Amino acid sequence: MDRSATTLHLHADAPGDIARAVALLRAGEPVAIPTETVYGLAADARNGDAVAAIYAAKGRPSFNPLIAHVADHAAARALVSFPDWAERLAAAFWPGPLTLVLPMRAGAVHPLVTAGLGTLAVRVPAHPVAHAVLAEMGGPLAAPSANRSGRISPTTAEHVLAGLSGRIAAVLDAGPCTVGLESTIVGATPSGPSLLRPGGVTRAEVEAITGPLAAAPDAITAPGQLASHYAPDASLRLDATAPVDGEKMLGFGDIPGDLTLSATGDLAEAAANLFGHLHALDARPGSRIAVAPIPEKGLGRAINDRLRRAAAPRD
Ligand code: TXA
Ligand code: MG
Repeated sequence: MDRSATTLHLHADAPGDIARAVALLRAGEPVAIPTETVYGLAADARNGDAVAAIYAAKGRPSFNPLIAHVADHAAARALVSFPDWAERLAAAFWPGPLTLVLPMRAGAVHPLVTAGLGTLAVRVPAHPVAHAVLAEMGGPLAAPSANRSGRISPTTAEHVLAGLSGRIAAVLDAGPCTVGLESTIVGATPSGPSLLRPGGVTRAEVEAITGPLAAAPDAITAPGQLASHYAPDASLRLDATAPVDGEKMLGFGDIPGDLTLSATGDLAEAAANLFGHLHALDARPGSRIAVAPIPEKGLGRAINDRLRRAAAPRD
């Protein structure tokens, strides 16, 4: 289809719309789909042209590999080999916001998905609509977050359309994402499993299953970890107790704001609101956002990780 044409806004609860999304995916078109973490820009992971269309729509550097989403643990075993610790993590957290980077089986996905790496990131999303799409597709879907490369991840179909309208075939709308932060990524290193990206499952929850994680490798093995990522247009000032000079304030707990991540200090609520509130404040006139301190514990670590990247100097 002509991707410069209007992006279809499909609704998961409208009869036939899930089937329409799957038909587009089968035809090699990228379609944004809901997951419990953020909206993903999905394409057939075995079709190189379809995967290339993801990179093109996002403006993503080609060295940044993608996550293969599958319907269940058995489907993941067909793509990668699972050491014992990974079997236990999958049993504990799938379906859910955990991605495992594991040795890939030959020919599991098109090489463009892994950007040539010998490992593949796999995840079984918990969202019922994502599951319905994957089950009907019957094969892996490569899906990065459905935002322009380097911008804030989308937690609603409206966020997807704001960034990618006219650049993708369709978005399948199922309302706001419940977790609101991308998945936690755990990968195999020579010294055992290691945390490559903090996310919707906390380090403590992972370590309860695996024991202490190995130190993260020095090299940028998860390029989403580049310093300036998840960037809004506005500049961010972190650990602020009050706005100055016309700043917009993003509050938390006792510190109120123009918008508040969680007035009760609930970190899960704050995670679910994070990208939506950043999008909303970014859309208002003014160029600076002050952000209240978030405790560096549990989900707060992943929230602070995203905030620090959003605040980092731009290239
Ligand atoms: O929650 C999520 O994970 C969302 C939803 C859509 O599932 N997806 C997402 O994808 O956040 P993306 O592409 O924005 O982030 C994937 C991260 C990137 O930082 C990438 O570098 C890393 O996973 N990654 C993918 N394959 C990898 C591999 N083989 N080795 C190391 N890192 C990898
Ligand atoms: Mg992303």
